[in-house]
Amino acid sequence: MGGLIPDEVLEEIRQRADIVEVISDYVALKKAGKNYKGLCPFHQEKTPSFVVSEEKQLFHCFGCEAGGNVFTFLMRYEQISFAEAAKTLAQRYGVKIPEVRVSAKDERREGLFKINALALEFYINKIMEGREGKVARDYLERRGIDRGVWEEYKIGYAPSQWDALLNHLKKKGVNLKEAEALGLIIPKKGGWYDRFRDRIIFPIFDLRDRVIGFGGRVLDEKGEPKYLNSPESSLYKKGGSLYGLNIAKKYIQREGGRVFIVEGYFDLLSMSQRGVNNVVATLGTALTTQQVSLLRRFGKEFFLLFDPDEAGIKAALRALETFIQEDAFPAMIPLPDGLDPDTYFQRGFTLQALEERAVPGVEYAMEVLMEGYDLSTVEGRAKSVEAVLPFLLQIRDSLRRGLYLKRLAEIVGVEEREILDAARRMHKDRKEAPDKGLITRIHISNEKKLVQMMIQNPQFIPLVAQEGVVDTLEDQDLRALAELVIHDFQLHENLSLDRLPPQLEERGLSEMAFNLAFQEEELEEGMAEKIIMDCLRQVKLKALKRELKGITKRIEEAQERGDEALLHSLLLRKQTLKMQE
Ligand code: UTP
Ligand code: MN
Repeated sequence: MGGLIPDEVLEEIRQRADIVEVISDYVALKKAGKNYKGLCPFHQEKTPSFVVSEEKQLFHCFGCEAGGNVFTFLMRYEQISFAEAAKTLAQRYGVKIPEVRVSAKDERREGLFKINALALEFYINKIMEGREGKVARDYLERRGIDRGVWEEYKIGYAPSQWDALLNHLKKKGVNLKEAEALGLIIPKKGGWYDRFRDRIIFPIFDLRDRVIGFGGRVLDEKGEPKYLNSPESSLYKKGGSLYGLNIAKKYIQREGGRVFIVEGYFDLLSMSQRGVNNVVATLGTALTTQQVSLLRRFGKEFFLLFDPDEAGIKAALRALETFIQEDAFPAMIPLPDGLDPDTYFQRGFTLQALEERAVPGVEYAMEVLMEGYDLSTVEGRAKSVEAVLPFLLQIRDSLRRGLYLKRLAEIVGVEEREILDAARRMHKDRKEAPDKGLITRIHISNEKKLVQMMIQNPQFIPLVAQEGVVDTLEDQDLRALAELVIHDFQLHENLSLDRLPPQLEERGLSEMAFNLAFQEEELEEGMAEKIIMDCLRQVKLKALKRELKGITKRIEEAQERGDEALLHSLLLRKQTLKMQE
């Protein structure tokens, strides 16, 4: 991001641009105290919760948690890249952007994108053209997808010859080794052959509408495999993007931040065919946290529409888990038996009927996980609690976790206290188990407070850095944010979130950072230092406890194995730690 615009120039734009002035072009702002207030352009609201700080040169919405600087405002409002936002501002404020040579690495990347673009152009020509593409056009027509829809998603057709694309790329003078690296052609003795043959081609785009990979569907239902995909390459990483997001992003805001998430290409086309364009597809692989943060960048309300078969239900539960671990709570829309979103609409059901089926994802998960247990028996009740608890314990938000635990107690018909006890036991077992996948965040509040204090009182950053506690922070995001903050402070001898955003954005941390920056309390003289010292102590204590626990476990192991030397050194370490506690 912004790699092509020199830092000094960005700095100059930053200094000249005034966030209040820029945002005023889009939002009616009123002075309120030392800030400006207005109606948030990123969600629907009647009372203003959108705040712009002239002093901080940041904006923040207390309603939808959008936030950032003048660059991120333009990026989000205009749906443009960082570089484009910088150029717009440079023009407005009379800053000259020098032409910069692209690096060799960027150049190679650009070249790869060009090859994919050439391939796409080829596939599109084929689907448009007479005889050859007719099979594909007919197929799409049979499946009820109109030309306007498949053209919008730039769907193509790979002809059935072994060397159609290969010859085209040769003619265009493409470096075939690079086409091979992209998975478009496959090496054989003395040459290459086309990966995609006689298939409908679905290009997969990044957010800047560049082709990163392809999926190809057979036309003949007996063909194997049904879908063939590009292998991973330097452009295409599985789980790093979402199919259709480049188009959906334009519609999501219009739909109040609502996004539908489906599994397959055809589910998505089918929805688009019915005018639903705020939809993305996971392409049948497990949803990743990276995809969740992408979704959160563009949307607020998520609806999962997965196949109702066993595989689909499993995939849905896993997706829910990933969302929940990221503190997002999607709704689930269970489909009637045997129907995927595509066939659902084919049967003439409406979007409205679909939306009426939506249930909170956690409730759906509870229901699925408890299925098959007989709640009229003691054993059935115990087992159902054991089945649901690990899921619920992944909820980070303590209010929601508590409420869902309470709900579980009600459903099963036990005292809430019993559920909490079981949760505690389970939590303890998990912690001792080698893979402690599940997270509970009891001490996060201290960690959060610490990072917040660093952001709001940068004069204490050197102190925190010196104490060396940052790499003991348990919350990965907070740790990454604290590291960035320290790094920036050391580089510039002050901190400005206004300068950080490209890095924050890249690592999906900006929302958290701006939230922390804007949740300001008026602190009395000297209080900030007290709070920081207290947080430091708590965080250190927590790290110490963790290490002690680990040592205690290793001591037991050493005892079992009779490893006297190791035992001795561990005991010594334990003593030292105990003294610091
Ligand atoms: P589905 O089998 O549900 O495909 O797999 P679909 O999109 O609904 O297609 P139709 O309606 O049968 O034509 C869901 C997704 O999983 C991936 C594809 O991305 C597909 O859209 N998939 C499926 C593969 O990558 N390979 C396969 O062989 C099958
Ligand atoms: Mn399907």
